[in-house]
This record gives sequence, C-alpha cells and structure tokens, in this order.
Amino acid sequence: MKVTIVGTGYVGLVTGACLAELGNDVLCLDVDSVKIDQLNNGVVPIYEPGLSDVIERNREAGRLRFSTDIPEAVAHGDIQFIAVGTPPDEDGSADLQYVLAAARGIARHMNTFTVIVNKSTVPVGTADKVRDIVMRELAVRGVESQFTVVSNPEFLKEGAAVEDFLRPDRIVIGCDLDVPGLRAKSLLEQLYAPFNRNHQRTLFMDVRSAEFTKYAANAMLATRISFINELANLADRVGADIEQVRQGIGSDPRIGYSFLYAGCGYGGSCFPKDVRALMHTAGEQGMELNILASAEFVNEQQKMVLFDKIRHHFDHSLEGKHFAVWGLAFKPNTDDMRQATSRALIAELLRARATVSVYDPVALDEARRTLADDLDPDSYEGIRFSRDRDATLQGADALVILTEWKEFKSPDFAHMKATLKNTVVFDGRNLYDPVSMKKEGWTYYTIGRDA
Ligand code: NAD
Ligand code: UGA
Repeated sequence: MKVTIVGTGYVGLVTGACLAELGNDVLCLDVDSVKIDQLNNGVVPIYEPGLSDVIERNREAGRLRFSTDIPEAVAHGDIQFIAVGTPPDEDGSADLQYVLAAARGIARHMNTFTVIVNKSTVPVGTADKVRDIVMRELAVRGVESQFTVVSNPEFLKEGAAVEDFLRPDRIVIGCDLDVPGLRAKSLLEQLYAPFNRNHQRTLFMDVRSAEFTKYAANAMLATRISFINELANLADRVGADIEQVRQGIGSDPRIGYSFLYAGCGYGGSCFPKDVRALMHTAGEQGMELNILASAEFVNEQQKMVLFDKIRHHFDHSLEGKHFAVWGLAFKPNTDDMRQATSRALIAELLRARATVSVYDPVALDEARRTLADDLDPDSYEGIRFSRDRDATLQGADALVILTEWKEFKSPDFAHMKATLKNTVVFDGRNLYDPVSMKKEGWTYYTIGRDA
C-alpha cells in the first residue's frame, strides 16, 4: 500500500520505517529540510534502538523515501498520516497549529478520495477541526474531492519504539460509519492486517472515543507513577521498602507489576503535556480532574525528592560541593531530554552553588543544548560534561543517578569507592539492593527504600 507520513519526528519516522518494513511504499514528509537531508544521507536524527537498521534496509529496498515536497507527498499516499507535534500551549491546552497546517497542506494538493489519519495526540474534537479546514481549502480551490478523517493514536514508548510499533498491544482506530469512513476502515484493516494474523489487535470505535483513549491511557499511566511515588515517600518515613510493596501488590492481576516503579518523577514529551491537555479539556467543560491535578502536583514535587535528600545529607550546605550525575535523558535508550528530571535537579544543585560532572551514554549532546537553554551562562559554567562515566566520580562528594541505563546497574563499586570523596549514592531509580549497599559501607539513598 502507498502511505504518506506528514511529520518525520519520533512517531512519524518510526511509523514510516515500520510500515515500510512490512512491505508498504512509504514517503515521509517534513518541513524541516535539515532533517530530511540527514535522512536522505543515511543519518538518523534521533537515537532509537534498532531504528537505523530498519530505515537503512527499507531505503535501500526503495520502500522508504524522505521529502519536503508537499504536492509529491500528497500525490503519493492512499493514506495520509498526520504525525506532527502537539506541544503544550501556555494554558496547558494542546497547540494544534502544526496539525491544522498539515491538514491544510494535504487539502491544497489532494485531488482524489483521501483518507487523512491523525496519529498525533490530539484533544477530542480535533478531527472535526481538521475536517472543517480541509472543506474550506477544497471550497477555495473549487475541488469536490471526497475525504474522511480517522483517528489512529500511537502508543509507542521512546527507547522501545520500533519494538512497540511492530508488536502493538492494540491498534485503536476511530472512524465514521458513513461511506467514506467505511472505505477508510477497510483500507486501514488492510494496512494493519499483518498485526492481526494470530490475534485481533485492532479496536474500531468512533472518532471521539479514539481521540479520548490516547489521553486516558497516558493519564492513567502518569497517575499510577505518581501514586507509587507518593507511597514510596511514605515508605521511606515508615521504614517499608517500596520495591517489596510493588511486588506485593503487583501480584494481584487487577493491579499488575508494570509501570509501578517508584522514581524521581516522570518526564518526556508526552505524560506532562498530555496530563495538562486533558485537564484543560475538562476545564473547558466546567469540570476539574482532581486526581489528575494531584498526579501532576505529586510529579513536580517528586522531581525534587532527591534534591531534598541531598540537601539534608549535607546539612543544607551545598556551596562548593561537587556531584557526579549519571543519566540525563528522561528515560533509558533515548537521547530525549524533554521534561527530564535531570534538568530540574541540576538547575537546583547549581542554584545551591554546587557543581556537577554529568554523564549519559547517548544524551550528552542533547543535554548540552537543553541545559544551555535552561540556565544562565554563569550557572552553566558549573557543569562539566563527560564522555567517561567513571571520570565523573573523581573528586565528587556523591554520586546522583537519574536514569536507569543498563550500564549503571553493575558498576565497579570498588573503583567507585576509591574515586568518590564520600561513599554516598543518591539513586533516583532504585538500581541497587539497599541491604548489600549498606553492608558494603555505602550511604545509599533511594526512592522508597531508605529503611
Ligand atoms: P516531533 O517533534 O519529534 O516530530 C514532529 C515533526 O513534525 C517534526 O519533525 C516537525 O518538523 C514536523 N512538522 C511540523 N509541522 C509539519 C508540517 N506542517 N508538515 C510536515 N512536517 C511537519 O514529535 P513526536 O514526538 O513525533 O510527536 C508527534 C505526535 O505524536 C505528538 O502529538 C505526540 O504527542 C504524539 N506521540 C509521541 C510519542 C513519542 O514517543 N514521542 C508517542 C506517542 C504519541
Ligand atoms: C509514554 C507511554 O508509555 C506511551 O504508551 C505513549 O505512547 C507515549 O508516552 C506518548 O504518548 O508519547 P514515553 O514517555 O516514551 O511513553 O516513556 P515511558 O516509558 O512511558 O516513560 C515515561 C516516564 O515515566 C519516564 O520518565 C520514566 O522514567 C517514568 N516511569 C515509567 C516511571 O517513573 N516509573 C515507571 O514505572 C514507568
């Protein structure tokens, strides 16, 4: 099948590459010519495990192309996916300008029946806005093409995006039940047939429910994380171990084990913005989502829990202290720094007149850029970026761990002891066994396991 993807970011690029991997003929469009040039020269602009191989293989096979040419892209696809960003506006609502611009671009060049599939995360009612824009553009052109707007939200996680796309738990498709809608349904059934061979994974529903499902999923996951984080903070006080509690409650299938890892707060490009966008939608209806507001509030506080432990350990005097920081990305296996806890925590350490040596296996360049934007030049001077994990420990008063990269799980503790000034670790991701750490002479701070 011929597929066009409008927007070649995380979601668009992974969607395009994976649909090509299944044998489809895919054209990815972007307004960012630097990105498209990179991709056409074999450079993948994001770090995502396995993605470069899939892109390379399918580019060579001629099934995956990249372009900035809107008429060419619109003419190419039987299906036009919109996968552009929906960043938060100042009031927390999703900024739809990129989605609507993408829809306008499609409408200005479409000449036959067109299926527009919205893969971006968009508030309920966005399909109607897209439909209105397309109708307006067609009217201006005096063209009477039939079209339909489908909602097909994406559930992949960064760092596991290729795997998630190729092995989805479910594929949600919201389409109308009129003639164009049913025609689109049948095309999408064909496109997604390879995922449904052994097990029907596609859930068809109405468009508004599909749009809502995406926010409901992210809101539920973010709430779960804030819930366990709040319990972790209590566990620290009452002498319980949150990891044992996680296993204790997760064994109940109604609760489950996953997405219950306590940590130093959730980040990324989606949970924070989608939680706010859903609250904004509720506000428009005169409602407050109290649970979600608390989940967001708890998360903002959670980003500072480690800082409070650091300050307490050093008797509220961090001036002149130096910290090694391992892990900058908002989660492992990505170089994405959007809403990463590291940004808030490093800023706070620098504000307290401490300095830091930071290391991340892949996000170092991205971190340089984001931290330079976040901080004033004087504070930025307090950061030493290192490509050598163990070198960050030299002369540091303590180690702070913020992302659970695999390579942090079994470090050379003897070397760490010999290099750090004090045998102190502040672990925001609960990587080590607190009992053996204490036995080995470490002062080991965790999230919910300090008992
Ligand atoms: P991104 O910022 O990585 O990529 C968006 C791309 O769209 C950019 O390359 C931008 O240049 C391009 N673009 C903007 N306007 C365009 C236009 N008119 N025509 C062509 N290209 C245009 O964003 P992302 O992380 O891929 O997110 C896209 C959407 O998917 C968002 O709504 C997000 O919430 C949702 N989502 C993201 C993830 C994720 O893991 N990142 C997962 C699921 C859903
Ligand atoms: C999340 C969702 O998991 C995806 O299903 C969704 O498609 C995506 O948002 C999106 O809409 O963009 P992502 O943000 O890429 O994916 O990564 P997650 O693995 O969900 O992690 C998000 C944050 O939660 C990270 O900061 C992570 O450290 C934190 N987290 C996750 C925890 O603190 N504890 C956990 O148990 C799990």
